[in-house]
Amino acid sequence: MTSDNQIIIFDTTLRDGEQSPGASMNQAEKLRIATQLEKLGVNVIEAGFPAASTGDFEAVKAISETLKISQIAALCRTSESDINRGWDAIKNAVNPRIHTFIATSELHMTYKLQMTPEQVLEQAIKSVKLAASYTKNVEFSAEDGSRSDPDFLCKVFEAVIDAGATTVNLPDTVGYAIPEEYNELVKYVMKNTPNMNKAILSVHCHNDLGLATSNTLAAIKAGARQVEVTINGIGERAGNTSLEEVIMSMHTRPNCFPYTTTINTTRIYPVSRLISMITGILVQPNRAIVGANAFAHEAGIHQDGILKNPMTYEIMKPETIGLNKNNLVLGKHSGRHALNSHIQEMGYDLSKEELDKVFEKFKHLADKKKTIQDEDIEALINEGVLRSPEVFTLEYIHVLSGNTVFPTASVQLNINGRPVQGAIEGNGPIDAVYNIISKLTGTKSELLRFTISALTEGTDAQGEVTVRLQEDGIVALGKGADPDIIIASALAYINGLNRLEYLKEHPVVRPKNL
Ligand code: KIV
Ligand code: ZN
Repeated sequence: MTSDNQIIIFDTTLRDGEQSPGASMNQAEKLRIATQLEKLGVNVIEAGFPAASTGDFEAVKAISETLKISQIAALCRTSESDINRGWDAIKNAVNPRIHTFIATSELHMTYKLQMTPEQVLEQAIKSVKLAASYTKNVEFSAEDGSRSDPDFLCKVFEAVIDAGATTVNLPDTVGYAIPEEYNELVKYVMKNTPNMNKAILSVHCHNDLGLATSNTLAAIKAGARQVEVTINGIGERAGNTSLEEVIMSMHTRPNCFPYTTTINTTRIYPVSRLISMITGILVQPNRAIVGANAFAHEAGIHQDGILKNPMTYEIMKPETIGLNKNNLVLGKHSGRHALNSHIQEMGYDLSKEELDKVFEKFKHLADKKKTIQDEDIEALINEGVLRSPEVFTLEYIHVLSGNTVFPTASVQLNINGRPVQGAIEGNGPIDAVYNIISKLTGTKSELLRFTISALTEGTDAQGEVTVRLQEDGIVALGKGADPDIIIASALAYINGLNRLEYLKEHPVVRPKNL
């Protein structure tokens, strides 16, 4: 039951978020994210697009069968086959939602769909009726809604609500709207759709002009009671409205936004880190709320003010989003129990086997690094638990480098249980490592991007490497962390290759019209 001022949080990180280039996730990763989204307090989790691929279907099904509280939505086009497939994937969820959509703008109807408005209306009604024969929880989206004729939009919404839709969504699909204009459109639709009192009006904004959060907040003020968001704002092109920005705007300015949500703000930062770790999409340092600099104060005058009273320059407390600034944590003598309770404080629940793996890696790292911080522990979880199924693993690596030798790398890999080794030269030590790994694995991927950063401060910090690889049109990200940056580079490359192998087996085919 929701009150008039409750905003329903619909998270589409696993669907629209996964449409970010290179952000494909495997089933285990999606399940882990969904579990954390439920703990964050998300009301509706759009788990995927079951008709897109078998992998998508299986992931949505697994999430539906695991989660206990959140509603699980499956995205479907308006075809009968999409809706049947979507329902099959979510039917065992505690509260399944079918989310069907068709474009309503003149531009999309004429050029993309090649359908008349009458045909679109008919198709929308038909699909909602079919969805409503399965569940009372049906959402209809008018794709490119913000560029649609407002009266046509009202006509479609009225008809689909009559057909059984309980949520109608007005997306700004291409991120074209401006806050005042979007606010007016939402008001107009609320006022001119006669049966609007029987449904919730939802909004879904893209960030092409950097206005997704402003548009979403403007829509809430106009009466929208569901917002569609993603963690870290990931999504198609410039991304979607970010959950953390909307939630913290409402939390920080309750006088402007007197609304409630079920979100536990202290889970925001851990979930943000998890998404970044799994997708390999780094959060830019100056990003609002979750960026590394969001709570960092450089200027002396600011630091002085903060010491006297944090409210001088801090409008939010880092603890509110679950960011523990004094995260000096564990060391060589810390035991399994201490590690586990710290991991739980960070928002992760690991099984016994997962904890065993992470603890082993933790001990290994603690031999090389005096203090282990949250960022280190996250990297260990990433390596010990969140990896894709591994075809290739690193057994040893030895690199010769310096200003008087040819950089040479000797590497032994395990490929499907079989050890293979070799040595090769390169332009530099990382080039040599990548050359030999590519030769041993027989892969021909192109390295699109290579980034390296220190996970924490100090010269003994772990280097974190992220690579983006492309092979046969498939793009995958790889990550690796180690105090030795050559090893971190090798681990990232091997991780990327494993993800490429996985994607070759489980292709994500984006169907037409999405
Ligand atoms: O951006 C969009 O219009 C969408 C719909 C499918 C809701 O993602
Ligand atoms: Zn979208």
